[in-house]
Amino acid sequence: MKTQIRICMVGAGRVGKNHSRAISQHIAGGRIVAVVESVAQVRDETAREFGIENQFETLEAALQKVDFDAVVITTPTPTHLPISALAAENKKHIFLEKPMALNLHECDAIMQVTQQNSVLLQLGFMRRFDPEFVEAAKRIAGGEIGQPMMIKTNTHGPGLPPPWARDLRTSNGMLAEVNSHDWDTARWFMGSNLERVYTEVANFKGAANNIDTPNFYDNVLVNIKFESGGLGLISGVCPCGYGYDARVEIIGEKGIMQIGELQGQSIVVCTNRDQGLISPIFRTWPERFEWAYINELAHFVECIQNQTTPRATGMDGRWAVAGVLAGTKSFLEQRPVNLKEITGE
Ligand SMILES: NC(=O)c1ccc[n+]([C@@H]2O[C@H](COP(=O)([O-])OP(=O)(O)OC[C@H]3O[C@@H](n4cnc5c(N)ncnc54)[C@H](O)[C@@H]3O)[C@@H](O)[C@H]2O)c1
Repeated sequence: MKTQIRICMVGAGRVGKNHSRAISQHIAGGRIVAVVESVAQVRDETAREFGIENQFETLEAALQKVDFDAVVITTPTPTHLPISALAAENKKHIFLEKPMALNLHECDAIMQVTQQNSVLLQLGFMRRFDPEFVEAAKRIAGGEIGQPMMIKTNTHGPGLPPPWARDLRTSNGMLAEVNSHDWDTARWFMGSNLERVYTEVANFKGAANNIDTPNFYDNVLVNIKFESGGLGLISGVCPCGYGYDARVEIIGEKGIMQIGELQGQSIVVCTNRDQGLISPIFRTWPERFEWAYINELAHFVECIQNQTTPRATGMDGRWAVAGVLAGTKSFLEQRPVNLKEITGE
């Protein structure tokens, strides 16, 4: 039997709880031995809900008291580098939530410290583990729709992210918080890096939600030119009024592929001819991507057990951050931005 991987959760907010549930209920190869969370009440609730024996306010304290193999980091973006560095220097494998970091220097520092300490690094791009997305990627790579010419990928979410996550200064805003997955999916499915982006944003609901953060937006569209010559469109709406909506369309030289559905089930009900047909919609991201989250964490545990390199790498995380930075610069300066201006390459 393979060794059970001992995991320390760092952060117990929305995603920390989601991942603690996935590991404790579905992943036999991993066991959560500690939770690190700066807010005592959240820490306590999480430890109780998932039967975690040890809880700490800081990763430093956990490292002194408990033996573990890996960390799952789900804290806010500005903490990703210091927490990853401390974990890597103590030889802990790292699962790190998106966005990888605030800028490319931080991304490079994370990749460097994990390589120097020979620990694994997996980014939280769970769409790379969603059964539909995985199948689509396989079919595209197999040439089913020919050379990809154009991609449209959207993430529209119902709930406002926490204040730190919608503020450009602490998270790079919605393009990072909500659309990180679209940056990654676009590059993955198109099989090409980005060359140029042009972004427009709008703010419809900020005032009603009492948000006065500078440059806040709740609607965003990014036009993309890929190095391959292909085109792309990323759309973000958050909060949107109708549910959780993550769909992708790819047009290739031979055909079109659509991934994801708006409706959460195929059941359609009609009880009243004035109301028409009713079909359930996905309400939240944990619901839509439940199995993608479980699969990505199972993959992380298996990579540690088998000493193999995880899919969803630091380089994937870095490219998504580069897209976010270019997209943000574009709307702030009201002009198209070449990725070279961000990457310097
Ligand atoms: N993969 C996805 O689909 C997905 C979805 C939402 C958010 N995220 C990402 O997950 C991360 C967390 O997002 P969230 O929505 O859970 O945020 P959150 O604010 O709900 O939770 C973050 C938690 O981290 C704690 N924390 C902050 N600093 C800490 C520190 N130094 N040590 C320990 N705990 C600390 C906070 O008290 C909070 O409970 C972010 O990187 C976010 O972008 C990913």
